[in-house]
Amino acid sequence: MVVVLDFGGQYSQLIARRIRELNVFCEMLPYNTALDEIRAKNPRGIVFSGGPSSVYQEGAPVIDPGVYELQIPILGICYGLQLMTFQLGGKVLRAERREYGHAEISILEEQGLLGCMGERSQCWMSHGDMVETPPPGFVVLARTETAPVAAMADPERGLYAVQFHPEVVHTPKGQDVFRHFLFDICGCTGSWNMGSFIEQTVSEIKEQVGDKKVLCALSGGVDSSVAAVLVHKAIGDQLTCVFVNHGLLRKGEAESVLEVFRNQFNINLVYADASERFLTKLNGVTDPERKRKIIGEEFIRVFEDEAGKIGEIDFLVQGTLYPDVVESGTATAAVIKSHHNVGGLPEDMRLALIEPLRWLFKDEVRRVGEELGMPASVVWRQPFPGPGLAVRILGEITPERIALLQEADAIVTEEIARAGLDREIWQYFAVLPNLFSVGVMGDERTYAQTVAIRAVYSNDGMTADWAKIPHDVLGRISNRIVNEVKGINRVVYDITSKPPGTIEWE
Ligand code: XMP
Repeated sequence: MVVVLDFGGQYSQLIARRIRELNVFCEMLPYNTALDEIRAKNPRGIVFSGGPSSVYQEGAPVIDPGVYELQIPILGICYGLQLMTFQLGGKVLRAERREYGHAEISILEEQGLLGCMGERSQCWMSHGDMVETPPPGFVVLARTETAPVAAMADPERGLYAVQFHPEVVHTPKGQDVFRHFLFDICGCTGSWNMGSFIEQTVSEIKEQVGDKKVLCALSGGVDSSVAAVLVHKAIGDQLTCVFVNHGLLRKGEAESVLEVFRNQFNINLVYADASERFLTKLNGVTDPERKRKIIGEEFIRVFEDEAGKIGEIDFLVQGTLYPDVVESGTATAAVIKSHHNVGGLPEDMRLALIEPLRWLFKDEVRRVGEELGMPASVVWRQPFPGPGLAVRILGEITPERIALLQEADAIVTEEIARAGLDREIWQYFAVLPNLFSVGVMGDERTYAQTVAIRAVYSNDGMTADWAKIPHDVLGRISNRIVNEVKGINRVVYDITSKPPGTIEWE
């Protein structure tokens, strides 16, 4: 395995991705991780990420110099190069201006780290400071017009560094740089894959759990579903899943979860249909934040009631993913919406956690799901908010309005899948704004509700662009909704990106 030490660069996660794409397992740790902790992981290589700081800034992040003495090859990227220079006795020039964007790099050494790049190569730069003189013992491997040291190495000590960003696609040969570093310099074998991940995780879970009992809050979403099946593979009937239906699920969703988990995977599943309970609590409530709060709290109550009936429990499964792990604690963003997660841990429920996916990115979780034989309908399910359709029904939530939205939403889902757009579009769904308008149907005046279609491209839900669905597909969706869902006489398409809009309407 390889350790990526993170200095807060905007591409740090990409570095981890690129390394894993070469079938080498890697973990990203904060730059100030204790030396002993790094050593204990026994990595074959260490990568320093880029970062926004200047080594001359007060409080700039530095690394324990002991890292250079570990006899483990290091690759410094951008700030990593500057830091290595600064700490090992070279000279870093303070920036007069930033170099940002494409640059042509001249390779001075035909062998070694950059040997794969040819004499001249395109690369992506994003830096202020730059290195003027490398530390003693280093040779310069490459330069650009502005940067006299675009790459350097001290092969004797296994130290390598580049000013450019090999992890971004704008450095076309970037992956070759990682390949050379990982395979030729670090001696990695590239044998990490989803099969080996599953095998190793299963044995770790077995060891962690012993003969104890484990609980999992199943939402039907990809993460909790894959986590549940993985844990079940390890410990079988020691796992019990609780699935709470708050009555705000999509059409057919509860049935599909029951089918997959009970019938296909034979997992102990407690199904709590608490629709009535939630609807009663939500009666007359129109404020978005109050809806979320009520659903979040009620969810925990129901979950606790059901968990209480199971008896002694020692562990709780969480579908936490790697980006959540990396980002938690660093997020200082203003609260736009109080997100409620169906897999959320009741605060006063003190159980040890099992987080089998905490090292994986979303697409890797999907690959694990496929490897475990889970159906595409689960593995490729689009993200669905914890409070469910409640945040897509503006105004009052009534059984009639839920049913109306479920029908319209099912049509959106069907048509998007039929058009083959379901994997390309991040989320696609129907919304019920509290909007009535006049229409005409079969010579009759109608006065009925409007449905809005929302569909976005996104990578992580943090930003999004509205999806350019072909007009004929939109036309079919509109036609079908107006004709098949009684009570709807108008369909509109939401063409707002995030920001300034959010993906959900509430
Ligand atoms: P917004 O609407 O904030 O949504 O742009 C971003 C992503 O988060 C999902 N979402 C939620 N997920 N609990 C969740 O688990 C919530 O309360 C919640 N609200 C929004 C939304 O579907 C989108 O993927």
